[in-house]
Amino acid sequence: MKFGYFDDAQREYVVTRPDTPLPWINYLGSEEYFGLISNTAGGYSFYKDARLRRLTRYRYNNSPLDMGGRYLYLREDNTGTYWSPSWMPTRLQLDEYECRHGQGYTVISSKLNGIKSSTRYFVPLGESLEIWQVTLTNENESDADLSLFSAIEFCLWDANDDTTNFQRNYSIGQVEVVDDVIYHKTEYRERRDHFAYFACSEKLAGFDTVREDFLGTYRGWNEPVVVENGQSCNSEAHGWQPIGSHHVKVHLKAGDQKQITFILGYQENPKDDKFDPLDSQIINKKSAKKALEKYLQPINADKAFYELCEYWTMLLGKLQVSTPDEHTDRMVNIWNAYQCMVTFNMSRSASYFESGIGRGMGFRDSNQDLLGFVHMIPERARERILDIAATQLKDGGAFHQYQPLTKRGNNDVGSGFNDDPLWLVLGVAAYIKESGDWSILDELVQYENESGTESPLYEHLQRSIQYTLDRLGPNDLPLIGRADWNDCLNLNCFSDTPGQSFQTTTNKDGKVAESVLIAGLFVLACQEMAGIARHCEDHTEVNKVQNAAAEMEKTVWGAGWDGDWFRRAYDDFGHVLGSKENTEGQIFIEPQGICVMAGLGVENGKAVKALDSVGEHLATPHGIVLQQPAFSQYYLHLGEISSYPPGYKENAGIFCHTNPWIMIAEAMVGRGDKAFDYYRRINPSAREEISELHKCEPYVYAQMIAGKDAATHGEAKNSWLTGTAAWNYVAITQHILGIRPGFDGLEIKPVLPSDWNGFEATRSFRGVRYEISVKREGSGNDVSLEVDGQSIEGTVIPLPNAPLTGQEPKTVKIKAVVR
Ligand code: GLC
Ligand code: GLC
Repeated sequence: MKFGYFDDAQREYVVTRPDTPLPWINYLGSEEYFGLISNTAGGYSFYKDARLRRLTRYRYNNSPLDMGGRYLYLREDNTGTYWSPSWMPTRLQLDEYECRHGQGYTVISSKLNGIKSSTRYFVPLGESLEIWQVTLTNENESDADLSLFSAIEFCLWDANDDTTNFQRNYSIGQVEVVDDVIYHKTEYRERRDHFAYFACSEKLAGFDTVREDFLGTYRGWNEPVVVENGQSCNSEAHGWQPIGSHHVKVHLKAGDQKQITFILGYQENPKDDKFDPLDSQIINKKSAKKALEKYLQPINADKAFYELCEYWTMLLGKLQVSTPDEHTDRMVNIWNAYQCMVTFNMSRSASYFESGIGRGMGFRDSNQDLLGFVHMIPERARERILDIAATQLKDGGAFHQYQPLTKRGNNDVGSGFNDDPLWLVLGVAAYIKESGDWSILDELVQYENESGTESPLYEHLQRSIQYTLDRLGPNDLPLIGRADWNDCLNLNCFSDTPGQSFQTTTNKDGKVAESVLIAGLFVLACQEMAGIARHCEDHTEVNKVQNAAAEMEKTVWGAGWDGDWFRRAYDDFGHVLGSKENTEGQIFIEPQGICVMAGLGVENGKAVKALDSVGEHLATPHGIVLQQPAFSQYYLHLGEISSYPPGYKENAGIFCHTNPWIMIAEAMVGRGDKAFDYYRRINPSAREEISELHKCEPYVYAQMIAGKDAATHGEAKNSWLTGTAAWNYVAITQHILGIRPGFDGLEIKPVLPSDWNGFEATRSFRGVRYEISVKREGSGNDVSLEVDGQSIEGTVIPLPNAPLTGQEPKTVKIKAVVR
């Protein structure tokens, strides 16, 4: 069952009924000011950090699930009937409803009793404010007297404090209402130099800033007493819960239309210029007034909206494809790329599943996210890499997370996730392949953000590799530490007390438990390092990493191979995991993906064997589960993985992040049908028809789909902020479609499903616009290339000789034939 449809021409998903199985959300903002917005206008806004600078309040895990947002109420003043044009929170049945989620904006439209309303929400580029453009139309034959109320609930800025420290919070709330603009200035009198403002383009009939006056003490957002009465209280908040609500009276003649604009903004002032007059406690509003003057003019707001659309056209335009499969096209051209950008902006901080309070930026997560957006904005990837690398420890290890505001490593979680540093090598390699910017290797970067420790990024990469070599276990496989990619495989934690962290409770010395996944990842990282070192003519390093990789490969074929698949790990007792010897957890997806991606077994047939085992034991119609058989109980020596009921999360859930590794592996052994089949199984657009089961948005990937052991097999959770976005993008674009950036140029090497006769693509790469046409003329995967009519050797397009910066991109035509 569907709850809407894709409008690909507009690059929008159109929700056609408000009661979606879960709130289907979108993101506003792309630089510093962000918002989450659901299809019924739920959500909240923040500046830079969803915990420390939250503008509006949001209560997670609430009932109803999505309550609190950017609400409007419409009221027919002659009958007293009132409703929410976004359906929530009044839930009065609407005659028409539609929500269009686009890139960085959402438009919610509806109609009731002949009154049409359409609200466009977006954040202009370069601004720390959001605009709500409301258009009201009277489609009746008679005039309408309407009241329009806005409503947001301010938050006390530190969202964590906001949900805990009421003995203080209830006394500190402060507002100013000046010239019909509502200013929220809680804590501004002391250490804050920022405030929020909420304004309307119209002359007000009234306003409210006291929540209980607006709602009525025993009422909810679904029936505010002020809206019911059609009259604001002009209330001024002193403590308690400051809100912002405007009341506008609108007289609309039959057939008339009116546009009303609301602006919610965040403003910082210089510390010594906070007040106006200086010796007062009144906010200096000059800067906010400037923004208001500009954007309350519809012409400027419209212009900002078109600029936002053009910005996205530019970003998405870096790669556009036209294939025989519409789900592939819309994910690659629009939604998967968009999700990669959102994931880059948010890391794992704020979604409907991540509270915005908890996690910092993950070291491994950020390096992987980069794989999905680097082609759109390489300069931001560069910045991100340097930030991440500066949190690396001197011994090559890494803080598992760092805080986006301070950019410092997070001490609470610390380090010791032994896969972390290797992802840095992959991230840097991806950046250089895309941009050709070798100079990043010479950037002087600190360790642990300590001045005086600066060394070239190149050395950071060397230390990352060395970190693994310094930590080999009894079988010569890499020691796992607190966990590897699978945060929940905690072989050194042995946690038996509720509330303990599975990741940071360490009561084993960590000298025994080993990871085959890290072994595979190490080989992969060594290959990238060899490519980098070769270019730098550092032959010693090339030899070193090549030998180390060969040695590690040998080790894997010994202790890491189980006969039909790659093993997963050795536990603290030295017992194998992910082997026929186990009764539960016999086979895991991660080492099959990563080891084959590193090329292990591709030549000797073992890769195919491992992948066939994946097909046999792990694949389901809804995607590939993480392991089998699921753990039936909690095992002290395995940790969090066995804490989940079977079929959920890491305990045999379809952890979507890992599925593309298998797609890539299948492409590497030349099996395009299988690669694409796995791609289709978890492609959200291809799952749109089963939205009642899938539940999450059909336009973005979710972290997890419940596995076959779960009661709700096929149900997705944790949409938006997941490494799934980047890896699926890489799998489909670089390995199935085979458009792959390399150190020496763009490679074209598709491994297509057999029923495709080809596809077309345009790809911007290092200042060149490649127009690519691929035709299948045989049933194999051999590729021959013509560049502007000239056939070339191999599958890598030579780079153009002339530097191309600052000019119109040169267009090059590529013809590829697959036989
Ligand atoms: C979460 C984490 C990621 C980890 C994965 C598997 O998605 O953000 O770092 O690799 O879970 O445990
Ligand atoms: C939990 C989740 C896992 C995630 C981790 C991050 O363990 O199960 O997916 O990676 O939290 O801290």
